[in-house]
Amino acid sequence: FTGAEPWVPERGGLRAVRAALPSCRGCDLWENAEQVVPGDGPARARMMLVGEQPGDVEDKEGQVFVGPAGRLLDKALAEAGIERDTVYVTNAVKHFRFEQRGKRRIHKTPAVGHIVACAPWLRSELAVVKPELVVVLGSVAARSLLGTTFKVTQHRGEPIALPDGTAATATVHPSSVVRSREYRRDFELFVTDLRAAAAMLG
Ligand code: URA
Ligand code: SF4
Repeated sequence: FTGAEPWVPERGGLRAVRAALPSCRGCDLWENAEQVVPGDGPARARMMLVGEQPGDVEDKEGQVFVGPAGRLLDKALAEAGIERDTVYVTNAVKHFRFEQRGKRRIHKTPAVGHIVACAPWLRSELAVVKPELVVVLGSVAARSLLGTTFKVTQHRGEPIALPDGTAATATVHPSSVVRSREYRRDFELFVTDLRAAAAMLG
């Protein structure tokens, strides 16, 4: 893949990013998806949450975290005392990758090539928002922001930093909690990590 770089605007803030995203051909994921799903939230948010990629519902509606994982994230943020509309929420990959099985579209994890191709969009969001803290949700976001050797399960809830020095912390992806067989425990652990994130902001 050539990567998103040629489509990423150099100025114009989040508005320009949003306007340019639908034209991106940085990898092959735009072909089968319904639409691109941009990040959402205040340009001056102190906290940025980075997920994996849009899901089935997000792909149809064009908005981040509005499906089952999004509902869980809303609930967890509320329990952790974080107001969703004060944070900027986005994904490491902006198009939905899936496998068609009959009428159903089954989520497929983005490949490293997709993560790398889409990274310039995430970098541009980071450059505009300049969050004080980045919350890395799951292993795909971790691969994009922290490299391939970082293990979310080993470092969840800890204060870490992105390679450029931005303060960060990592936790699991809310989808993994949705699917968990130990839902109660995993939901509480997720909320605990988000509370720790809120405390890092002070
Ligand atoms: N999972 C994500 O990572 N992002 C979304 O927007 C929805 C589900
Ligand atoms: Fe561009 Fe990212 Fe979509 Fe690939 S997934 S086409 S790089 S916006």
